[in-house]
This record gives sequence, structure tokens and C-alpha cells, in this order.
Amino acid sequence: MNAEPCTYVIFGATGNLSRIKLMPALYHLDAGNYLPEGTRILAIGRRPWDQQKWLSEVRDMIQSKVKKDFDEKIFLRFSDRLDYHQGDIQQAACYTALTETLNQKNKFPKNMAFYLSISPSDFGTVMEFLSHNRLLDEEYGWRRVIIEKPFGYDLDSAQALQKRINNYLTEEQVYRIDHYLGKGMVQNVLVFRFSNVMLEPIWNRNYIDHIQITHSEEIGIDSRGDYYDNAGAMRDMLQSHLLQLLTLVAMEPPVSMEAEALRDEKVKVLKSIRPIPKEAVHGHSFRAQYAKGTVNGEKVNGYLQEPHVPANSTTETYAAMKLYIDNWRWRGIPFYLRTGKRMAKAQSTISICFRHPPLQFFRGTNVNCMTPNWVLLGIQPEECIRMEMTVKEPGLEMSTRVTSLDASFRNQDEKAIDAYEDLLLDVLKGDRSLFLRFDEVEHAWRVVDPILQTWAIERDYIATYPAGSWGPQDSRRLFDKESQSWRSSLLPECI
Ligand code: BG6
Repeated sequence: MNAEPCTYVIFGATGNLSRIKLMPALYHLDAGNYLPEGTRILAIGRRPWDQQKWLSEVRDMIQSKVKKDFDEKIFLRFSDRLDYHQGDIQQAACYTALTETLNQKNKFPKNMAFYLSISPSDFGTVMEFLSHNRLLDEEYGWRRVIIEKPFGYDLDSAQALQKRINNYLTEEQVYRIDHYLGKGMVQNVLVFRFSNVMLEPIWNRNYIDHIQITHSEEIGIDSRGDYYDNAGAMRDMLQSHLLQLLTLVAMEPPVSMEAEALRDEKVKVLKSIRPIPKEAVHGHSFRAQYAKGTVNGEKVNGYLQEPHVPANSTTETYAAMKLYIDNWRWRGIPFYLRTGKRMAKAQSTISICFRHPPLQFFRGTNVNCMTPNWVLLGIQPEECIRMEMTVKEPGLEMSTRVTSLDASFRNQDEKAIDAYEDLLLDVLKGDRSLFLRFDEVEHAWRVVDPILQTWAIERDYIATYPAGSWGPQDSRRLFDKESQSWRSSLLPECI
């Protein structure tokens, strides 16, 4: 698929996401000669900045991100593509001026991608204004809209938002982003599963005991208190990124890597997740909030002391849940998902625990058959695939140890690519396979809605965990068996 020149219009261009992800990603794409000739980037922001000020801001954004890799020559070329449009996105005048700017002769390519890096409550308004000014008409070029998560606040609001979107856009024009799908290792999960024939026969309920998906962060909520306190870990991470990871691990082989084929299979997984009845919410989910503690040797505040967080907030910064997928492949196998801020270590991992082999064969020896095999998929920061096996220890004794076979995704000299680079380029190419279709979002909300509804009512107590820990011990109650416990390490010894 070839990328055509386009105008990237970024709403919320002076915000956090644009600073730390979007502008650096576009710079990297330019540095790698991936941006088609003539591509322009028009930033929309409320601040009264002129072109010179915008360029110096972008320089700062990029320098602080790429540090010693900053290249003055590339930046000069990149800055030639940049423009700043000042306006209040709530006001019609912003769009009349924007339309005039975009219609300037021969300056802006007619293919346009509108990136909504703004509060979800503004999505509808922005689309309405864009449509009113005919900026979404595809008469002279394609028009695509990239929508950041969260897509809605729950099932009802997601459906209402979608209804509104349907007034202005066709599904082909909508790019619902989940940046996890742009991560190299996440895409590698599919390659690992579907291009290695030895795995498929054992990738099911007959051989797998359970699957864990963990995303832990050392950082707290920084200055995002306003947003985060209304979202919480379940909405912020689980409903979106972690359920997406689950679909990739659990899906059937798609007919092809075409967007629709892939998305069809992901939706089938989400549809097969056993609904959690209200009375089972406590058996299937756990929430907690970080209290003060120590992260990386540094004393940090508890959640309630963070800026913009109400003193009596019961918003969860840790969420865990147990799910079952009721289909032939997975029936009866628990999937445990957990995420938390201010945890002991920042990492994302998928850990697949296989069943124990039968014990009889090694009876009467020191052979430890009780250590199950694990397949560990390190998503970040370590991008790796490891298979743990039990092998004989050298020596005269018949005893064993665990060793792991390593199929690392990236060699040390190979550069990591940020997820946003991949996704921003896919928008230019019109490739929607790594973006969410509405039914995926809808079914993901169906999975978590019963939990969110129960938590919304039970607002007088929330468990806590010390910042810098692996979360509350009590979350162990989610496990089906004594032998199951959270796996936090990619190393064999420290299970
Ligand atoms: C975002 C969440 O979607 O993902 C953040 O809003 C979270 O709270 C972030 O920190 C994690 O993404 P990554 O790529 O840093 O793992």
C-alpha cells in the first residue's frame, strides 16, 4: 500500500499526547523518508502562538524526546512542513478560518487526516463543525478522522458517540486508535502464533492451564488527575489495551491479514467472553488504589494526594479481572488481566502457563514435574518471546532446572519504533487493520460494563496498595486454583 501526500490536521496539538508521541513520531517518519513529498502538518491550538513560537515549541518537543539523535538538518526539513492555526475548537469561527487556510492554493494536499487528540466530550462538536464546513467531503481527496481513546465512557455513551459519528462519516473514514496495536511486539504475537506450526496444536484448553496479561507502570497519574479520576484503570487500560492483547492471544487464525478478516476474528473472541453477572462481579474483578510508598528508591505520594484528585476519591489505579472465553478452544481456561499505576516495575507481559505433565514417569527421582512450562511474551520494555522448559542439571544426580529458549523480537542494535509511527503511517496508507472497528469497541464495553456499574455504586471503600509494590495481595482471590499466582517476572527463578 503506497502512502499519498496528505495534510495532517492535529487538534489538541499543544497537549501532552502531541508533545510526547505525535510530533516525535512524525519527525521520525520524516527522518526515515516515510512522509510522502508535499505532506504538511497543521497544528490547531488555543494558545496565541505565531509560526516562530510553534516551531520553537516543536523543536523542544522533539529534542526532549529524541535527545542525542536530534538532527538539525532533518528538523529543518520537518519544520518546513509545519503550520500553526490558532482557534477555539468550540467556536464556529475556528473552522471558517481553518477552511480558508486549507483551501489556500497549492499549499495543503487535499487528502486530509484529522487527528482528534482532544477530550472525548469534544469529538462530536469538532466533527459537526468539520462536516458543516464540508471538510469531511471526499470530493477532491480522502478525508480520515483519527479518534483517540477512550471511545465513550461505557456502552451507552460509546453507542451514542458512534451514532453521532455516523451522521458525518462512513466507517471507512474512521480510524479508532489503540496505540497498543502499533507496538512491534504486539504485532509479533500474531506472527509468532500463526507462522510457527508447532504452536497451534497446543494453543488451547487441552494444554494451557491459564493465561495472564499484566501491564504495570511505575509512574502515577502525573498531571492527568482530572481525566484519570473520571476514568480509572478499568477504563483507561483494561477495556482497551488489555482486551486487545487478549483478542490477539485467543483469536482463531484469520482468513488473511486484511483489516476486516483480522477484526472479524477479534470480535468473535470478544463476543465469546462469558458475561459477568452482577452477583459475580466480586469473584471476577478486583480494584485498588495506590497509597504512598517508594518507587525506584524515591518516596512518592498516594493517589489521594495527587493534584486534581478529590480527597475522598475511590477511583481505582489498579484493576484486575478474570475472564472465560466460551468457545471450543478456550472453554474453562481462565484469563487473568491486571494493570496498575505506581507498581514495582514498568512492564507489559503476556504469560501463558501450560498444564503439568503427568507425574508417574519420574516417580522416585529428584525430577521436578511440578514446574509447568511457560511461554512469556514480553511486550515492553523487554520485547521478547521465551519458552521455559525443564531440563536435566549437569552432573550425576537426576535433578532438574528451568531454562528458557529465547526468540527475542529485536536485537540490541535494532532500533525500537514507537507505536504511533506505525499507526500514523497506516492512516496515510489507508490501512485500517490496526485500528478498531466499532463492534470491537462495543463488545469490549459489554465485557467491563457490569464491573463498572457495580463499582460505581460501591463508593465508600477501596483497598489500597503501597506505591512501588506489585499491588494488593487480596487480588489473589481471583485465581481458580492454589497453584496459580501472579507472574511478574520474565526470569525463570522468580515466579
Ligand atoms: C494510555 C493510558 O492509553 O496508555 C495511560 O491512558 C497509560 O494511562 C498508557 O500510561 C500506557 O501506554 P504505554 O505505551 O506507555 O504502555
